Amino acid sequence: MTQGPLTTEAGAPVADNQNSETAGVGGPVLVQDQLLLEKLAHFNRERIPERVVHARGAGAYGTFTVTADVTPYTRAAFLSEVGKQTEVFLRFSTVAGNLGAADAVRDPRGFAVKFYTEEGNYDLVGNNTPVFFIRDAIKFPDFIHTQKRDPYTGSQEADNVWDFWSLSPESTHQVTWLFGDRGIPASYRHMDGFGSHTFQWNNEAGEVFWVKYHFKTDQGIKNLTAEEAELLAGKDPDSHQRDLREAIERGEFPSWTVGVQIMPAADAATYRFNPFDLTKVWPHADYPVIEIGKLELNRNPRNIFAEVEQSIFSPAHFVPGIGPSPDKMLQGRLFAYGDAHRYRVGINADHLPVNRPHATEARTNSRDGYLYDGRHGGEKNYEPNSFGGPQQTGRPLWQPVDGLTGGTGNHPTPVHAEDNDFVQAGNLYRLMSEEEKERLVANLAGFIAKVTRQDIAERAIGNFRNADADFGKRLESAVQALRG
Ligand code: HEM
Repeated sequence: MTQGPLTTEAGAPVADNQNSETAGVGGPVLVQDQLLLEKLAHFNRERIPERVVHARGAGAYGTFTVTADVTPYTRAAFLSEVGKQTEVFLRFSTVAGNLGAADAVRDPRGFAVKFYTEEGNYDLVGNNTPVFFIRDAIKFPDFIHTQKRDPYTGSQEADNVWDFWSLSPESTHQVTWLFGDRGIPASYRHMDGFGSHTFQWNNEAGEVFWVKYHFKTDQGIKNLTAEEAELLAGKDPDSHQRDLREAIERGEFPSWTVGVQIMPAADAATYRFNPFDLTKVWPHADYPVIEIGKLELNRNPRNIFAEVEQSIFSPAHFVPGIGPSPDKMLQGRLFAYGDAHRYRVGINADHLPVNRPHATEARTNSRDGYLYDGRHGGEKNYEPNSFGGPQQTGRPLWQPVDGLTGGTGNHPTPVHAEDNDFVQAGNLYRLMSEEEKERLVANLAGFIAKVTRQDIAERAIGNFRNADADFGKRLESAVQALRG
C-alpha cells in the first residue's frame, strides 16, 4: 500500500472522510462535496454483469509441465519438449448458481485453463465431466433457462429441469453421471477435469489427429453425499473457494496429471460412436489415455475482481497445431464466449493483465474503444503496410476437415453404428456398484418426485428405463414411494 494522505480519484488530498459537507450545522448536503459524490457514484458502478452461466467460481495461477513427447501429434510450441513449462491460470466454477450461490451443490464444475504460451494464449474451457447434456449449441439457451430461475417463481423449478431433460433424451448420459457419486465434488482440488469436446491436433507434416483431454486429480477423487452437501452449503457457502485458496496458502499445491486420447483422423468416419458427439465418451479400451503433462496450481490471485471476475476464457483461443473439431456444440461456443466477453468485460477485456498473453505479445491493428490504454502509441494501424508492421503468416493454425458432402441444411448430428441416446448411460449404470446404484436412484428420485406433472415424471423415468431396464424399474418404485 502506498504511503501518504487519502486522496480523491484525481489525487487531491482528502481532509474529512467521515462527515459530508453541509450548509451550516445540521443543514442539507452541498454539491460542492465532490468526494461524497465521487464515492457514491463509483460505488454504484462496482458490479459488471455476472457470467450468464458459471458465475460462481475461483481461480489460481500455476504451471503446466510437459512429461511426454507429443511432437508426432501436434506442433504446438508449448508442447514441443519434455520438461517444458508454461504458466497457466485456471478458473473453477459451478454452472447454474448466481455469483453469491453456495459451492457445495449438485452441478457440473467448470474447469477452464488458460495456457500463456509463446504462440499466444490457449484456452481449454472444460468441465469436470467428460460429456454434456446436449449435442447442438442451438439448444443451449433453452437448456440453461431450465437450470436457472423460472420467470414466474424466481426459483429453479423441477418441472422445467425434467421437462427439458425428458424431452432431450441425449441428456440421459450426463444426467446419470451428475446424479451419481461424482455429482457433488468435495472441493475443486478433488475432482478431475476434461476438455470434453474433441479437438484437432496437427503435426509439422500436416497430419491430423482428434484428441480428448483428461486432467486426473493427484489429490484423489473426493465427493460429498447429498446430505453432507446440504449441510455444508448452508454452513460455508464459500467452501470450494476457501479450500482452494487456503491449500495454496499452506503450500499444498494441487496438481493434475494431464492425458489425451488420440484418434488418427482416418478412424473418425467409421468409429462406432460419432467422435464429435459431446454426449458420448470414447471408451478407454478403444483409445487409451496417454499421459502428457502435469498441471500444478501454486499462486493465488491478489485481487478477485481484477483476476477472477474479469478473467475471460474462450474455446476459440487456439494456438498453431491445435484447432476445433466439427462438434456442433464446440462450433457454437467458438462464437458465444468472445461475444459474452465483449458484453460483460468490454472490448478491451483482452488487454487486462490476467487475460493478455504473458509469454508473447498481441500484435493486432484493432484500436481504441472503451478503456483503451494507448499501448500502440503512434504505430500504424493497418496491414499490409510498409512501416514494418506485423504481417500474416500464411499458415493456418489447424488443418481443413476433409470429406464434407451434401447441401446446407439443419442437419442432425450424424449417427454412427452404435450411437443412440441411451447406450453409454446404460453402460455407466452397469459399471456402478450396488451401493452406487442405490445412491444414484435415491438422488434422481428425490428430484423427480418434486415434479408436479405426472406425464413429465413418467417421461423422465422412461429415459432411464431405455438406458437399463433395472435402472428404470428401481427409479419408478423410488419415485412412487416418495410421491405416495
Ligand atoms: C453451446 C454450448 C455452450 C454455450 C453457448 C456456452 C456459453 C457460455 C457463456 C456465454 C459463458 C460465460 C462466459 C463469460 O461471461 O466469460 C460460459 C462459461 C463457461 N462455460 Fe460454457 N457454454 C456452452 C457449453 C459449455 C460446455 C460444453 C462446457 C464444458 C465442456 C462449458 C464450460 C464453460 C466454463 C468452464 C465456463 C466458465 C469460464 C470461466 O471460468 O470464465 N460450456 N459458457
